[in-house]
Amino acid sequence: MDWKQRTYCGTITRSQKGETVRLMGWVDAIRDHGSLLFIHLRDVQGIVQVVFDPAISPEGYPLAATLREEDVISIEGTVSIRKKGTENPHIRTADTEIYATTLKILSRAKTLPFPLSEKAMVLGEEITASPQKVDEDLRITYRYLDLRRPSVQDLFKKRYEITKTIRDFLHELHFMEVETPILTRSTPEGARDYLVPSRVHQGKFYALPQSPQIFKQLLMIGGMDRYFQIARCFRDEDLRPNRQPEFTQLDLEASFIDEEFIYETLEELTCRCFSIGGKTLSRPFPRMTYEEAMNRYGSDRPDTRFDMAFEDLSDVMRETGYAVFKQIIAKHGVVKGFCVRGKASAMSKNLLQNEYALRIVPSFGARGMTWMKVLDGRLQSNIVQFFSDAEQEAIIDRFQAGDGDVILLIADTSPDLVNTVLGRLRLHVAERFDIIPEDIYRPLWITKFPLFELKDGLLGSEHHPFTMPDRDDFDPEDMEALLALKSRAYDLVMNGEELGGGSIRIHQTAIQEKIFRALRLSRAEIDAKFGFFLRALEFGTPPHGGFALGLDRAIAMILDTPSIREVIAFPKNRRAYCPLTHAPATVDEAQLKELGLGIAGMQTASPGSAEGSAGDESLNGAKIPRVEVTSEEVRHVAKLARLTLSEGEVDEYAKDLTAILDYVAKLDELETDTVSPTSHVLEIRNVWRDDNPGTPAAAPMILENAPKREKDFFQVPKILEG
Ligand code: AMO
Repeated sequence: MDWKQRTYCGTITRSQKGETVRLMGWVDAIRDHGSLLFIHLRDVQGIVQVVFDPAISPEGYPLAATLREEDVISIEGTVSIRKKGTENPHIRTADTEIYATTLKILSRAKTLPFPLSEKAMVLGEEITASPQKVDEDLRITYRYLDLRRPSVQDLFKKRYEITKTIRDFLHELHFMEVETPILTRSTPEGARDYLVPSRVHQGKFYALPQSPQIFKQLLMIGGMDRYFQIARCFRDEDLRPNRQPEFTQLDLEASFIDEEFIYETLEELTCRCFSIGGKTLSRPFPRMTYEEAMNRYGSDRPDTRFDMAFEDLSDVMRETGYAVFKQIIAKHGVVKGFCVRGKASAMSKNLLQNEYALRIVPSFGARGMTWMKVLDGRLQSNIVQFFSDAEQEAIIDRFQAGDGDVILLIADTSPDLVNTVLGRLRLHVAERFDIIPEDIYRPLWITKFPLFELKDGLLGSEHHPFTMPDRDDFDPEDMEALLALKSRAYDLVMNGEELGGGSIRIHQTAIQEKIFRALRLSRAEIDAKFGFFLRALEFGTPPHGGFALGLDRAIAMILDTPSIREVIAFPKNRRAYCPLTHAPATVDEAQLKELGLGIAGMQTASPGSAEGSAGDESLNGAKIPRVEVTSEEVRHVAKLARLTLSEGEVDEYAKDLTAILDYVAKLDELETDTVSPTSHVLEIRNVWRDDNPGTPAAAPMILENAPKREKDFFQVPKILEG
């Protein structure tokens, strides 16, 4: 391979006119003009147009006529300047082209499962291929093709630039990159562990790290002073759009520092990283205590790109004639709300009452919502007649409300419930009425978290048990005192998303032991789980603290991608399944035996699609777990799909769906790697069946189940991905 003579396609410029170059890459697109053949040749640096002219390349021209998209070729040719008016502004090499003299086909490509080319060859031609138009599972299945697109490669070039910036910056500050184990013990970060069985120590398991937390603290005890790692973490938890079962953290830890060191370091680092995406952040980043965040925004990661902060009206409403409010306040409840500026005409009475008060807010967990509009300097709503003039004035004054504003209030005996429901309502209203400004970035430090949280009556660490409390004179048996403790933890929030978090750690054995006792861990449990760590603490531990930035999340935000999967080279899908490698997969009996393991009871038939129960025979003879669809599930799906089904239909669908799932489970056992894909990516549109010309008349029947109709359309609630 004559790689020494290679020129990258995207680097060709006018100044090379007349030069002979050798290019290698993929055929991005082809255009046959009869007498001339044009191709777009693509490599990692970009695209250049190559022209095959039978007069210049009598052997290359007929061979070029056999080329198909994504064939890999090598050409030699002469750089030429394009004729005026034929330049292509879609590509960097806009005004140049190569007249090929030779062509070598290095490998052929099969028909593609989806189009890849993103750069039109001719000005004005529509570019149809875009990653977002292709089903995501299909993209992940063929991720190696998806990665060839220039737009996708750009994301990874930027990701590399960001990690390099991080490494360079931390190097300046004398941080040292150290790797920590992947086969380890459980690290308490609050999610479930991924376990790896040991063959050598049968019946025992390694856990994949949820974070390098314990090891980075051990590195501080080991005198490493300042550590960082671009660390892979593994968490078996409910998936959300911004979560992956394995993800990357920028993990760091430093000795002899306090919170200010972390704020200063992370602010500079975050600013440098965001500037790679052309985003400027102003410093210093504001700080807000957890308590203020919950009281004013109902969230520990408030989106501060817009205001709509909460105001408490309980003092103003204590003696009100509106009995609902009065009774709630008398029971130590609260009346709180926020003001939506200038949306009185956009928020109709019908929408506020029938949608928000009766449906949306109850679905968030509150009993109801009260609303008021300000018109001509006065409050208007279905309940203002119960408020005195003084109360009305006080409300307007508290919210600094003006004409055209809408005030939304929630009252409940539980102040926490009011905060969280208002928090969700605030985001719902802001998204629905386009109140959130785009293209601005609002970083925020959240500080002074509670050290502990109460979940199902049990005390747990809000972050992890190594976080330093704000005081050390607490009694580990006094639940009330424990719940009042604050931690020296901090989260970095940006536009309502948690980008990272960390804390100053406990560096004295006595305090660490007290925390374990507060968590109701017995002596035996402490010794078994953390004995090695407590022992390490006893050998001279420097005060230390650290931070972990969710790198995939930060990069997705910096590069404006719709999900973190876009910036991960080989992501899992939304069901923690890899359609490319079919992981997780079943393993041989022999492998299980070697590990001393057996599968008890249930096994998942097709991990990406459905859950399994006991069995049926697969295509290759193995036992396939059976999935029985219940009539309850059918009714639930029918409800979501707004379908009315008779009892008979419910049973029939349950049977049919069970049969389909059985079939799907069997398919998973088939060897399909060698089978060509048959997927087509077609534009989504409505079609009426050709074989039934009367179908349009069926529209009223179809609309029969619409919860709400507008002309010939279903009106459905907005669905937000949570
Ligand atoms: P924490 O658990 O807050 O802290 O994690 C730090 C950051 O990692 C990101 N993150 C995730 N990103 C993608 N997918 C996931 N499943 C996922 N889970 C978390 C978030 C989060 O803010 N050891 C501590 C840090 C420390 O105390 O130094 C830790 O792991 O952006």
